Amino acid sequence: MGKWDILRGPAEDGADKRSEEQQGIAQPALEVIRGQGTEISLPTDFENVIVCRDILRILEGRRSVRQYSEQSLSLVELSFLLWCTQGTKKIVGRSKKAAFKTVPSAGARHPLECYVAVQRVEGLEPGLYHYRSLSHQLEKVYEVDNFPQRLAEAAYDQEYVGTAPVTLIWTAIPERTYWRYPDQAEKYVLLDAGHVCENLYLSCGMIGCGTCAIGHYRQQKADELVGVDGEEELVIYMAPVGKKKEEEVKA
Ligand SMILES: Cc1cc2nc3c(=O)[nH]c(=O)nc-3n(C[C@H](O)[C@H](O)[C@H](O)COP(=O)(O)O)c2cc1C
Repeated sequence: MGKWDILRGPAEDGADKRSEEQQGIAQPALEVIRGQGTEISLPTDFENVIVCRDILRILEGRRSVRQYSEQSLSLVELSFLLWCTQGTKKIVGRSKKAAFKTVPSAGARHPLECYVAVQRVEGLEPGLYHYRSLSHQLEKVYEVDNFPQRLAEAAYDQEYVGTAPVTLIWTAIPERTYWRYPDQAEKYVLLDAGHVCENLYLSCGMIGCGTCAIGHYRQQKADELVGVDGEEELVIYMAPVGKKKEEEVKA
């Protein structure tokens, strides 16, 4: 494999090798299920939490925020952020299905899953949750001991990651993209992740929250924290979220 190959398009003719889709292999599931059957429907009265709709102001004020106030997030604030980053608007197809979400994804393959490390959200027990994007629900995966320490440790000891009321942790199931794009799957999965996290920055700006993209993490620790095998499903990005501290708002 040559240097930067992951960033290159396919060879000369622009055609990927014969994909699993072209071979008639069944497509991977649109979503994983990680809970024990108790889904929490998320509220959608977003109007009550939006404080800014001006995209230019949000872009001008956007910074990576690494200090969070003690304040909890409300459930509708968390719901808003999940909707903006992975929300499903429509599911199409019969034998081959595709979801259309609030973020773009190469071929509408949507290889990402979103887990939510909840420390301070009104109405939610602390613990690790999984976002069921297709039905806009949360399911609890499990409780986690020493959450702040384990989050910080997973993030190469970036302490502030453990202090946020909520941390979104995105995993990838690369097979979903590989099924259609065998030569480009890695690149497309990473590009998809960028869109998702940018939507998080922007939607945080709309509700007075702040976030910081975290690409520097210990793979194995992060995979263990979320309880994925690190092969078929692996952590690729995370982002702590909280209300901005007063001084961060002014800065
Ligand atoms: C792919 C990616 C990975 C990042 N990883 C980290 C990280 O692990 N820790 C961190 O504190 N900031 C991280 N950041 C945030 C950048 O440091 C930040 O965007 C940059 O310093 C510019 O600052 P700004 O976002 O406030 O404009 C990451 C950003 C991106 C896009």
